[in-house]
Amino acid sequence: MSAHLLLVEDDAAQRGLVAGLLRGAGYTVLEAESQPAAEALLSEPSLSLVISDFKLAEGDGLGLLQSVRRLRPELSFVLVTAYGSIEHAVAAIRAGADDYLAKPFERQALLLAVDKALRTRALREETRRLAADLDARERLVDLVGRAPSMQRLYRRIEKLAPTEATVLVQGESGTGKELVARALHRLSRRAGGPFVAVNCAAIPEGLIEAEFFGAEKGAYTGAGAARAGYFEQAQGGTLFLDEIGELPLALQPKLLRALQEGRITRVGGRGEIALDLRVVAATNRELAREAAEGRFREDLYYRLAVVTLTLPPLRERREDIPLLVEQFAARAARLHGLPAVGIPKAVLRALMDRPWPGNVRELGNAVERLLLLAEDEPSLDDLPGAPRATAASRFELPAEGLDWENLERSLLEQALQRAQGNRSQAARLLGLPYKAFLYRLEKFGIGG
Ligand SMILES: Nc1ncnc2c1ncn2[C@@H]1O[C@H](COP(=O)(O)OP(=O)(O)OP(=O)(O)O)[C@@H](O)[C@H]1O
Ligand SMILES: [Mg+2]
Repeated sequence: MSAHLLLVEDDAAQRGLVAGLLRGAGYTVLEAESQPAAEALLSEPSLSLVISDFKLAEGDGLGLLQSVRRLRPELSFVLVTAYGSIEHAVAAIRAGADDYLAKPFERQALLLAVDKALRTRALREETRRLAADLDARERLVDLVGRAPSMQRLYRRIEKLAPTEATVLVQGESGTGKELVARALHRLSRRAGGPFVAVNCAAIPEGLIEAEFFGAEKGAYTGAGAARAGYFEQAQGGTLFLDEIGELPLALQPKLLRALQEGRITRVGGRGEIALDLRVVAATNRELAREAAEGRFREDLYYRLAVVTLTLPPLRERREDIPLLVEQFAARAARLHGLPAVGIPKAVLRALMDRPWPGNVRELGNAVERLLLLAEDEPSLDDLPGAPRATAASRFELPAEGLDWENLERSLLEQALQRAQGNRSQAARLLGLPYKAFLYRLEKFGIGG
């Protein structure tokens, strides 16, 4: 892809000439005749370089340079000055220009300056990226949040990480359970080893045993070669058993035995393999209750829950929302090459008021969407389900109060009926994440 340049020059004839030279060299050229016109084009995500004349009919090159450094610091900038006005060139370099060109210049000098400035920019990007990577790796955890509940969590993570203890991470969907598991790994003495994440809900029941423990050649139909399971893959590191609440009851005793004995045997194998790994499990179910009600083996529950870490739902730490929004906005801007924009106060307030049943994940998605749809600045109209929120806030609690459980049940039933039994559609009608919807159906014993 050819680099996109913005050429700023108030003399139309000169601009045409230089633009022609640049296009001839294979660049895509945007043109502007004044500082304001150029600034309006700075939001162009494809832009890599600005070449501006010092003297413009409206504004000047130095003013434009300042805007560029403020709005798009990663862009390269070449200032064109009149012959002999070296002080302008010096001022420009001081203000952060990558290079200057004295008029009149030859085609060759122009192309050289452009090429050099573009390469400087690529280098700068690379350095910035490396620094950001390093930053991410060195940060204690990627968890954002300063609420007291989060600080308590950080302290517990730091304390637990270096131990061998099996940890059960609990919390609603989207609260950051996987991030916690990764933090436990990264801060452990096995940080140099593998982190193997297994979604227990995603493996077909018939395959689970072989997937977990591995299989010897010919152990079952289709087992062409011997294969290491997740436990072996995680040797020397951390095995993260996500959605442990979904693990079929039939397999639970085998997992328990592996955890208790620290040894496994491959399916169809004889020899035992000693385990050297740490297990972290996560669930968004209330595992204690599942165990009490016979849907999860109690002995396995107690073995896993020696230590539990519980993540607070986002609605219970609303004070962290501005911080998270800022972080997500920066990430979305980076990801999609959008100019960094501020989130207006009214939008931020609205974000802080929402219930966020999908927690941090849902907030992240909402912020990304706000930025992608923003015209001038992020707007409340682009929040998903915004009109529904107003309808809900107009709902008045009757003076005599109401029967919450009955209301909830009736709403669930109505939604199912209106969606003609289509559960994901019914969940959408209620503004609930699918899982949360299913959970409630189960709670009320609706729909089989
Ligand atoms: N405290 C946090 N700070 C920053 N980002 C977070 C935080 N918590 C969650 N996230 C982000 O939200 C998303 C969901 O997090 P994660 O996958 O860890 O949630 P989860 O609890 O495992 O959810 P699920 O139960 O649905 O699997 C990820 O993109 C994660 O980076
Ligand atoms: Mg998860």
